[in-house]
Amino acid sequence: MKFFVDTADVGEIRDLAQTGLLDGVTTNPSLVAKTGRDFLDVVREICQIVHGPVSAEVTATEFEPMLAEGRKLASLAKNVCVKVPLTLAGLKTCKALSDDGVQVNVTLCFSAAQAILAAKAGATFVSPFVGRLDDIGQDGMDLIADIVQIYGNYPAFRTEVLVASVRNPTHVVTAAKLGAHVATLPPNVLRQLAQHPLTDKGLAAFLADWQKTGQSILKS
Ligand code: E4P
Repeated sequence: MKFFVDTADVGEIRDLAQTGLLDGVTTNPSLVAKTGRDFLDVVREICQIVHGPVSAEVTATEFEPMLAEGRKLASLAKNVCVKVPLTLAGLKTCKALSDDGVQVNVTLCFSAAQAILAAKAGATFVSPFVGRLDDIGQDGMDLIADIVQIYGNYPAFRTEVLVASVRNPTHVVTAAKLGAHVATLPPNVLRQLAQHPLTDKGLAAFLADWQKTGQSILKS
């Protein structure tokens, strides 16, 4: 399973990239707005830190300007993945960009029907938002199960399922059990994955016993 980080905060990305666990990055207009920085500068900088796909989202809503924005974003770096919304204009843009060999992430997917369209439009990734479905009383993971099953029925569909709007480690583990290709994680969720109270407790006990020996590995 690939891990992307869901943030436009370059400091966070730099820090997490050093773990070697990052396969890509996703941003969206809200995340970019939080940084207060120039969007194109942020995208260029992120693309130098992480060499996997870096999703950068268009903001036009009609086909022609959306395509122009997508082409401009794609020209910033080889690893830009243009993010388009799951609308008819977004799907048309997805088809045009993917025919040109540009990676495309179709975002704001909330139904299996929409995911089928994204695959037919040649999307590299489709982003179903699990947390936002949970928020309205639906189980976001049911949608992941449906999409993974449907895509599995059609080997010609090359689109990867990118689980988005992830809120906790359970979302990640369930997505992995279902066979989703990618999860994009807020930095805090990525860090939470490594945590377990028994790990902390066990480590503290080992270190306390080790200190009693008076030894040092590096000084032996
Ligand atoms: C995905 O690409 C989106 O940026 C993101 O996962 C949205 O998550 P949210 O519902 O927490 O805003």
